[in-house]
Amino acid sequence: MRVNLFTAATVVAASTHVSAAYFQQSCNSIASKLSVHNATISGATFVQAGTTLTFPDVDPSCKIPLLRGTEPQVVSADICRVKLTIATSTRSRTAMEVWLPSNWTGRFLATGGVGIGGCVQYNDMNYGASLGFATSGSDNGHTGQNGTLFLNNTDVVDDFAFRGLLTSAQVGKQITREFYGKAQTKSYYSGCSEGGREGWKMAQDFPDEFDGILVGAPAFAWTELMSWDGMFLPLIKNAGPNFPPQSLWPVVDAGILAQCDGLDGAMDGIIEEPSRCHFNPDALICAPGQTSACLTSQQADTVRAVFSPLFADGTFIYPALQFGPGLLGQIYQSFGATQFLLTDNWFRFAVFNDPAFNTTMLTQDEIIFAQMLNPGGINTFSGDISKFRKRGSKILHFHGQVDPLISSLNSNRYYDLVSETMKMRPAALDAFYRFFRISGMGHCAGGPGATWIGNGKENAASLDPDQNVLMAMVRWVEQGIPPDTILGTAYVNQTQGLGVDFQRAHCRYPFHNMFSGKGSVKDPANWNCVL
Ligand SMILES: *[C@@H]1O[C@H](CO)[C@@H](O)[C@H](O)[C@H]1NC(C)=O
Ligand SMILES: *[C@@H]1O[C@H](CO)[C@@H](O)[C@H](O)[C@H]1NC(C)=O
Ligand SMILES: *[C@@H]1O[C@H](CO)[C@@H](O)[C@H](O)[C@H]1NC(C)=O
Ligand SMILES: *[C@@H]1O[C@H](CO)[C@@H](O)[C@H](O)[C@H]1NC(C)=O
Ligand SMILES: *[C@@H]1O[C@H](CO)[C@@H](O)[C@H](O)[C@H]1NC(C)=O
Ligand SMILES: *[C@@H]1O[C@H](CO)[C@@H](O)[C@H](O)[C@H]1NC(C)=O
Repeated sequence: MRVNLFTAATVVAASTHVSAAYFQQSCNSIASKLSVHNATISGATFVQAGTTLTFPDVDPSCKIPLLRGTEPQVVSADICRVKLTIATSTRSRTAMEVWLPSNWTGRFLATGGVGIGGCVQYNDMNYGASLGFATSGSDNGHTGQNGTLFLNNTDVVDDFAFRGLLTSAQVGKQITREFYGKAQTKSYYSGCSEGGREGWKMAQDFPDEFDGILVGAPAFAWTELMSWDGMFLPLIKNAGPNFPPQSLWPVVDAGILAQCDGLDGAMDGIIEEPSRCHFNPDALICAPGQTSACLTSQQADTVRAVFSPLFADGTFIYPALQFGPGLLGQIYQSFGATQFLLTDNWFRFAVFNDPAFNTTMLTQDEIIFAQMLNPGGINTFSGDISKFRKRGSKILHFHGQVDPLISSLNSNRYYDLVSETMKMRPAALDAFYRFFRISGMGHCAGGPGATWIGNGKENAASLDPDQNVLMAMVRWVEQGIPPDTILGTAYVNQTQGLGVDFQRAHCRYPFHNMFSGKGSVKDPANWNCVL
């Protein structure tokens, strides 16, 4: 009953035309032949390379530009697109897709979500499939960028915390096997932000699922992160005019650079090692008689508060936002008007099961309660990944150093926790866990640094494993060659069509980049990874 495409394709390999026709025919018949437990198969459609797929049925809340996941996708490989829904309990389900490329490499890739959704990341699925991975994606148990379905339903929370990904990856592998007639050779995961948390969840609690995991800007320590995000609205509201007005943001940015840009040996607008930056906003307080381009002492206090860790009842909750240019303004723009949607929905629907709960000003008790409750085990902050290590799997973690939504210092903290918990120094962790700090990168992509590292289709400058984190992961798993640095590319004005501006070889933690002082700062050869 199984469609043994792999064998058939080998047999007909002499003629790609026949192979393509056979592939199309196999795709058309696969839906009726699949036997997936608890699944409702919506269908399987052949999609020809070059087709522009749009996603009219996707919930409008998924179409947030920042997330890019549901923008029209030009599919660059012939694929078989399978859509299905799986019951994960009697009162929850997860919707998912598998994209099966005709020129399959034998690899499987599961992709993660973003925000509090709810939304298949089609850009990531397209990227994987175009590189020959059989690729799965899911809505993690609920559709749309909100948490309303968490209300009084811990099964939906469980799907979001771990089961949506786990189930869709397992089903994705099964469909891959049934379609091609053989199992994948290696299985991979890739996700950023909330998807970064999901990847870590697998490494911590489901270590057998993946041979290689690529995680960016992970939203782990989730409940603490939700509380930290939630502190900005009251901080900004309470500050009122004591929050520096927009006209002063460039003054603060320049002040941060004046104190910290040179720490890495180069005044290039990029801070390589933000954890060594101890910016003191008091330096910007107006001198007697000075009336412009300076802060009041109250405004300096507000800046200090924005870049402070969150404590509740004297207990450390979440690290400070790292210092970097642009961040003060981005915090105001992201968090200044209403409570951050993720924080608001998380507390109302998952923590307190009370749609009327007011999240405007979370109390210290509420913050600690959420941390203790840890719904669905979503925190994802266990420092013990010994099972993952023992299995021989690898994890490649990266974090942008001007991320305005998730402090990169939390990734440093996690790495240190793993090191401490497993009693392993970085040289030993290097065997299976490497963490790269991407200077000048915002949240998962973009920013003034050399941020094109290939975690997504939209920032892939090259498929060379030295320059592409996904392909670096594959090379590490399949050839045992780990990445020592990741060579990122920056384009002129962050626009690929304008040509390469510079490249930088990003170091793995705890190393950081230091300019040698000789030659151009734009030449990666003039930088060294130092401690
Ligand atoms: C086959 O895969 C490569 C990438 O490995 C891709 O560039 C190409 O377009 C694919 N061809 C087809 C017909 O899908
Ligand atoms: C899913 O399938 C398994 C195995 O067939 C079955 O035991 C379980 O009850 C099913 N769950 C749901 C929610 O239908
Ligand atoms: C949450 O998302 C669902 C699914 O898209 C939608 O039906 C619902 O209206 C949304 N709720 C709110 C409060 O936005
Ligand atoms: C949620 O559960 C609480 C406690 O059991 C109950 O008071 C409330 O009515 C429930 N809310 C909804 C919308 O079902
Ligand atoms: C929520 O709380 C804030 C401050 O504590 C208050 O200003 C606001 O009016 C409250 N909103 C509602 C709907 O009660
Ligand atoms: C890059 O942007 C700057 C500032 O917006 C502009 O002055 C410059 O002309 C742009 N360069 C190119 C090559 O487009």
